[in-house]
Amino acid sequence: MLTRGLHLLPPETAHGLALWALGRGLAPRFALAAPARLRTAFCGIELAHPLGLAAGFDKDALATRGLFRLGFSFVEIGTVTPRPQVGNPKPRLFRLRREQALINRMGFNNQGVAAVGARLAARDPSWGPLGANIGANRDSADPLADYVACLKALYPLVDYVAINVSSPNTPGLRDLQQPARLDELLAALLETRRTLAGERRPKPLLVKIAPDLAPDDEVALAEVVTSRGVDGLIVGNTTTARPPVIGGRHRDAVGGLSGAPLFLRSTEQLLRLCRLTGGRLPLIGVGGILRGADAYAKIRAGACALQLYTGLIYRGPRAVGRILAELDRLLERDGWARLTDACGIDAGA
Ligand SMILES: Cc1cc2nc3c(=O)[nH]c(=O)nc-3n(C[C@H](O)[C@H](O)[C@H](O)COP(=O)(O)O)c2cc1C
Repeated sequence: MLTRGLHLLPPETAHGLALWALGRGLAPRFALAAPARLRTAFCGIELAHPLGLAAGFDKDALATRGLFRLGFSFVEIGTVTPRPQVGNPKPRLFRLRREQALINRMGFNNQGVAAVGARLAARDPSWGPLGANIGANRDSADPLADYVACLKALYPLVDYVAINVSSPNTPGLRDLQQPARLDELLAALLETRRTLAGERRPKPLLVKIAPDLAPDDEVALAEVVTSRGVDGLIVGNTTTARPPVIGGRHRDAVGGLSGAPLFLRSTEQLLRLCRLTGGRLPLIGVGGILRGADAYAKIRAGACALQLYTGLIYRGPRAVGRILAELDRLLERDGWARLTDACGIDAGA
């Protein structure tokens, strides 16, 4: 009902309204008692169940509490850049209803690290684990310095940091996945983290990658992240590819595609990366999770935790509870006492 109402509005208006309601505690609250079977963890962060909110929904940390109340076990805010920026001209978000997909070219619209940091400083850590996804300003002369600045500002305020080198909507950003450039970026960020952590246990740094990497590039990337000692990968962002199932007037809209048509591509990539990293690197599976079966396939392909964005748009505010119930039934059907036992089973990990 609520979802149907929001879908009558233009997508960005609906999104703004949903965030506004979530931010003011006006959205529904779902008390979720996730079955013990679904407990998991990534990079030492314990989770009651695997489903978190992907970056981009709450870029400015306006509605964190409301999002935990929808049942997500962790929430990733951002992408945040050092300076505020307005993003691309509207319209920049398109619904592909028949395909249960979205195309977006938002372009890192966000309030900047100072405003977001101030909001995060006021949050109550008991709401749940929070990650900050960081990036570079579109007009930055020194993207590497932008990532370092964001890390310094947000590290003390969150439980993990995701390094976004995979948005298709900031020109040149994806080039930071090239091995030499990624190595340089990670060296700077890990050195900064060393200083920030001091004597304390360092908080996890994860890299969020694009589903459009060529297989050779994945091999090189896996080599760089493991040799540098990154804590995990988020697999992954939206795709610039357009699978043949995509029709309609938005088919050729420029931007990143998310939702159901991204599922296969992102899950196959997850499986390859699980194999490439020998199942030793924590992987967060993202891309096209709309049902329990999608979540289950990602777990089997090597994910220890999951995120979604588009699934929330199409399955509505009860998405988390519904997907978890379906996932739990599948695990039970296949005789898994614990979700973690099924992680990577299809990758031979
Ligand atoms: C409107 C929109 C904005 C997004 N913004 C970001 C972003 O700022 N940073 C980021 O890392 N990912 C961003 N994403 C990508 C999502 O986090 C996620 O990786 C992708 O949508 C695939 O998951 P899904 O199929 O469950 O939506 C965005 C996605 C959408 C639909």
